[in-house]
Amino acid sequence: MDDTKKLEDEITAAIVGASDEAVLEAVRVDALGKKGRVSLLMRGLGKMVPEERQVAGPALNALKTRLNDLIAARKEALVELALNARLATEKVDISLPARPRPMGAIHPVSQVMDEVAVIFGDMGFAVAEGPDIEDDFHNFTALNFPPDHPARDQHDTFFLNEKNDGSQMVLRTHTSPVQIRTMVAAVERAKKAGTDLEPIRIIAPGRTYRCDSDQTHTPMFHQIEGLVIDKETHMGHLKGCLTDFMATFFETKVSTRFRPHHFPFTEPSAEMDIGYARKDGQILIGQGDDWMEILGCGMVHPNVLISVGIDPDIYQGFAFGMGIDRLAMLKYGIPDLRDFFAADARWLKHYGFSPLHQPNLATGLSS
Ligand code: PHE
Repeated sequence: MDDTKKLEDEITAAIVGASDEAVLEAVRVDALGKKGRVSLLMRGLGKMVPEERQVAGPALNALKTRLNDLIAARKEALVELALNARLATEKVDISLPARPRPMGAIHPVSQVMDEVAVIFGDMGFAVAEGPDIEDDFHNFTALNFPPDHPARDQHDTFFLNEKNDGSQMVLRTHTSPVQIRTMVAAVERAKKAGTDLEPIRIIAPGRTYRCDSDQTHTPMFHQIEGLVIDKETHMGHLKGCLTDFMATFFETKVSTRFRPHHFPFTEPSAEMDIGYARKDGQILIGQGDDWMEILGCGMVHPNVLISVGIDPDIYQGFAFGMGIDRLAMLKYGIPDLRDFFAADARWLKHYGFSPLHQPNLATGLSS
């Protein structure tokens, strides 16, 4: 019996000391497996005399049960230990601050385009677009520029290489060709549907090009065009629309005046001035004794309507065009236009806008 006690102590120590499930399994096989040490003792029961067996049999069975219980308990403990170890290594510290991510800024040109689109969108204008590379028809002819008229040169046009048929594409010198594209598309839509022309109310922001460069001119710049065509649109609508726009855009009262001017594609034509004052070398838009030119506008010339197949006896409308870069310089006090396109990240960080703020009329155009 002493030997059995020693065996139990040994196996118990091995079970308690097993460091993982594999070691524990080896201990179990060594004790209780087919050829395990306890199993061999049980096989010896057969050779005993009945009196001996009556004592040793229950003792060995009890030993077997104790060892099995111990193994099961140790196994459970090891599983929990392993899980705890894993949880400890895979722990995520959610109190750590998030890694800083570089945040870009919205360029003032994009910002102003968005602001202008929001204001005119509120008045019911849709946004239209056209290509940067235009043909002579859309950029000049359909806009009532007479052939070989000096106005084509006044635009400092960039011409592309001549095509085989002698025609030449241009980099559009203004966004006015989008007027033509929009009207042509509207006429086609009405023809297809067999209906009257739908009223047109669009703005067209985009890049424009003229061979010119100084502090306030760059060969590529941005304009926004506006076009309204309907049956009863008149100059009063034009003035009201643009005066409202200026006050909303500059977020202050702005005095305006319209001066007669000339554009081939409008009649009458006007330039619109806004009031400003100079104070401590700063330009204050809104009120004041000085005027600065801010846009060109007018009633769409009958010849333009005819060139796209609209009857000028039934339809009229107005159009306007203004420089987006100039609007941005004036509103945000940016002195040199050339910096807009120098791709200097420091400049953009200084003059740029948060991408998290969407211009809107409820909480503000800019922040
Ligand atoms: N296209 C003209 C320009 O670039 C601006 C303009 C647009 C004037 C529409 C009248 C009507 O100067």
